[in-house]
Amino acid sequence: MWLKILPDREFVENANVRDADVYERAASKPLEFWSEAAERLHWFRGWKEVLDSSRAPFYRWFTEGEINISYNCIDRHLGERSSKPALLWEGEDGSRRVLSYSELHREVCITADMLRGLGVERGDRVVLYMGMVPELPVSMLACARIGAVHSVVFGGFSPRALADRIQDAEPKVVVTQDGAFRRGKVVPLKQNLDEALEHAGGSVERVVVLERAGNEVEMKEHRDLTWREARRHCTAKVEAVPLDSEHPLFILYTSGTTGKPKGVLHVHGGYNVGVHLTASWVFDLKEEDVYWCTADIGWITGHSYVVYGPLSNGASVLMYEGAPDYPSPERWWEIIERYGVTVFYTAPTAIRFFMKLGGEPAKRHNLSSLRLLGSVGEPINPKAWLWYYEAVGGRRCPVVDTWWQTETGMVMITTLPGVDAMKPGCAGRPFPGVKAMVVDESMKPATRGELVITTPWPAMLRTLWRNEERYLKTYFRGEVYVTGDGARVDEEGDFWILGRVDDVLNVSGHRLGTAELESALVSHPSVAEAAVVGREHEVKGQAIVAFVVLRDGIKPSEELIQELRAHVAREISPIARPDEVYFVSRLPKTRSGKIMRRVMRAIEQGAEIGDLSTLEDVSAVEEVRRAG
Ligand code: PRX
Repeated sequence: MWLKILPDREFVENANVRDADVYERAASKPLEFWSEAAERLHWFRGWKEVLDSSRAPFYRWFTEGEINISYNCIDRHLGERSSKPALLWEGEDGSRRVLSYSELHREVCITADMLRGLGVERGDRVVLYMGMVPELPVSMLACARIGAVHSVVFGGFSPRALADRIQDAEPKVVVTQDGAFRRGKVVPLKQNLDEALEHAGGSVERVVVLERAGNEVEMKEHRDLTWREARRHCTAKVEAVPLDSEHPLFILYTSGTTGKPKGVLHVHGGYNVGVHLTASWVFDLKEEDVYWCTADIGWITGHSYVVYGPLSNGASVLMYEGAPDYPSPERWWEIIERYGVTVFYTAPTAIRFFMKLGGEPAKRHNLSSLRLLGSVGEPINPKAWLWYYEAVGGRRCPVVDTWWQTETGMVMITTLPGVDAMKPGCAGRPFPGVKAMVVDESMKPATRGELVITTPWPAMLRTLWRNEERYLKTYFRGEVYVTGDGARVDEEGDFWILGRVDDVLNVSGHRLGTAELESALVSHPSVAEAAVVGREHEVKGQAIVAFVVLRDGIKPSEELIQELRAHVAREISPIARPDEVYFVSRLPKTRSGKIMRRVMRAIEQGAEIGDLSTLEDVSAVEEVRRAG
């Protein structure tokens, strides 16, 4: 039997959703359910059909409706919430800013006008390569306002990773910063961008540079402008343009099982409905809440639950620029105390990090303002869950363990905090209106197997940017959406997520494809072949373990190990730096030459190796075992 914890009575009494019937109602009439959800938003023109499945699995939601997510995040709140803080921002250097809804409106309008002035039109892409500064959500909302498509690239990505994304999205304009603060150091974003543009700059006409860190940058004449210059003569009156509900809102790149990242495409209408409703119900947002999601906006969690979900609910959103432990591990807890944060959403890796420190920093601060906690990005082990519930939440705050993906756009499996009992380590059940199932290899229902979503939902991805074929191939078996995650379903119908079943690693909540890591390793002149697998890690969830075959004549050495680790960090991002590098003379392969990653994974995890009949050379397995 599992541990079951009921939500606090006082919480339940005031919760946005208290009635368990909601599941039943949504399941019996899902389209009515989503239609009602959509009515919470402003539409310039009503929709005809809630769902059009005629080209399934290219689903269309709220057909012929006209909407603009920027209007729903800003304009709809003017009047009643004009002076309410929309963004509360704290810089890593201690600087602070507050933007009210009317100030946010002004900033977004000016930026929208700036983009137009630089030639950005409806449907054009704009890449945002920035850190956690208010100008990032401002730029996203400005793109949305005029129907441009943003593609945010995480500020921790290398010039090479940035170049790949720019080449694929073909933006007309890139907005960046001189530098971003990270642990007291300056990450030279503009310099990285210049390097990327040397390889992939074809489409880019203008670059806007926000001055944040004050580091020196080179400005290219006729192409580069500072944020200040670019906005100098811009107007604060730019209307949100009515857009078809299927108009693209953003492309966000995520790792898959090949070396090339996938451009996940989300649209205005359905995405807005999905993130709006889930933000309200899962985080139980109330007028007076101070809501803090610690995710970087460079990832989907930041898109959906720092920017679009909470702002479309008119919430006050806290944003912090820097690292959780800078200048000390007190930082987050100080922030919670200082701003009176009420709803806090973070990742298991951070929870485990603080738990390992013995919880001292959290104990030294008054966290009594908190009333709800959330977790996302990877499975949370029961021990970390309980620590979070007790040490941070003082046993009074429900914990929502939210399962979802870049592709799903919105939370898909969770508990509703005012309705469901919590089981530490278990995500809960599908959100109302969502149908999930666990299946075996022949797609039959099973208690343990692969997690699939059997019916469409409004915030689902619409396609992969310019790659419909990969969209179909990667995600669908018939009309069923395949998540790539393994799961177990218990007798009560609750879902326990077991982690990825494909060649994707989850390192500190970041998704990394093994193929991407391998291709970075092989790009080093000393490397002939490489295979990457995950190993369980106490804080990061998974660590990156690389097995490397060197080119003839190259000698293994400790220096080379360090060089390869640094090489991957440079090629992709410091988050992708391998934890371990082992040299082997060959990799276990099938007779047709495919690396048997399954075997290597099993060795790393100390599990049964299973069938080896297709293996070409059994001694390669022995070698991997000895090396690792
Ligand atoms: O493996 C699952 C894991 O994160 C993957 C999605 O990664 P990404 O698209 O980067 O989005 C992360 C934030 C939504 C999933 O396939 N994952 C996410 N949330 C959970 C989770 N695993 C277990 N429990 C969760 N709550």
